[in-house]
Amino acid sequence: MDVSFVKTPEIQQLLDRAAGVNESGGSPRLKAIMRDLTESVMELIVRHDISESEFWLAMKYLSDSAGEIGLIVPGIGLEHFLDLYMDAKDAEAGLTGGTPRTIEGPLYVAGAPLVEGNVNLSVDEDEGTTVLHMTGHVTGPDGEAVQQAIVHVWHANSKGWYSHFDPTGEQTPFNNRRRIKLGKDGRYAFHSKQPSGYSVPPGGSTDQLMQALGRHGNRPAHVHFFIEAPGYRTLTTQINFGDDPFAEDDFAFGTREGLLPVPSRQGDSAYIQFNFQMQRAADDSDERFSSRARAEAEPQPETETA
Ligand code: DHB
Ligand code: FE
Repeated sequence: MDVSFVKTPEIQQLLDRAAGVNESGGSPRLKAIMRDLTESVMELIVRHDISESEFWLAMKYLSDSAGEIGLIVPGIGLEHFLDLYMDAKDAEAGLTGGTPRTIEGPLYVAGAPLVEGNVNLSVDEDEGTTVLHMTGHVTGPDGEAVQQAIVHVWHANSKGWYSHFDPTGEQTPFNNRRRIKLGKDGRYAFHSKQPSGYSVPPGGSTDQLMQALGRHGNRPAHVHFFIEAPGYRTLTTQINFGDDPFAEDDFAFGTREGLLPVPSRQGDSAYIQFNFQMQRAADDSDERFSSRARAEAEPQPETETA
C-alpha cells in the first residue's frame, strides 16, 4: 500500500469532517492544523505499515508519559527545533546578534527569591561538590549596560537533581534558584554549589524512549537563565560546561556554540566569566516570557544566604 491511499476521496472527506472544516463554529486555524496533523498521522501509519496493536501501544505510551512531556520534547529535538525556527525567522527579519537563545527545559520554577549583589544560590547542604563562581555583565546591542535587568538563574545540585522536582525530597523549594536584580552597571555575580550533569529520571517514559532509540538521557552540567529588562527582548538561554564529558553529546540539544564556556578550576572552586548581550525589544510581546505553563512555588520569606 502506498501513502496515496490517504489522498483518496473517502479519506479526504473523513479528514474534512473530523476537523470540522465545513462547520461554521470553531477556530479556522485550529481546524487547518488539526486536519494536517491527522493527515500526517495517517500517512505515517501507511508509510510504516503500523498495525493496530502498534498504534495502541503508542497511544498508551503517550498517555502514560503525560507527566514527562516537557522532558520528551527536548529529548526528541523538538525544543531545539523551536529555537532554530525562531532563529531562522529572526534572520529573515534581519534580527541578528546577541547571546544565542537555547532551550528553557522543563525545570524552571517561578517565585524564586529576588536578591541583589553577589548572590549565593545554594542554601542546602550538598556534600562533596565544589563551588561555582559566575560573573559577567549584561549589555544591549550597543554595548550599553542594561538597566533594571533581572537575571533568573537555576541549576541542578551535585546529584543532577533540581529543587522542586527532586524525587529524594532532600532540597528546599528554591535551592539553586534565584532572581538577581542588577544594578546600574549591569553586572551580575553569584556563587553556588557546582551542578553535576543531569540525567532523565531512571525508568521513566523519557528514559524508556531513549533506550528504545539506542540513546542516552544525559546532559552536561549546565546553568539556566532568563534575562528580562524593560525595553529588551527576554532572553532564554543556558551555559553548559565546556569540559563536561557530555558537552558535545547533550541528549536535549541545549548546547550551542557560544554557550559552552570552560570553567577555570582552582582548588575547590570553578570560575566562569560570561557576558550576556540582549536584543532590543521590538514590541511589548518581546519583553514578555513565552506563555508556556511553568511550575510555581510560594515565595519564601527573604533569608540571608550570602
Ligand atoms: C531536560 C532537563 C533539563 O535540565 C534541561 O535543561 C533540559 C531538558 C529533560 O529532562 O528533558
Ligand atoms: Fe536543565
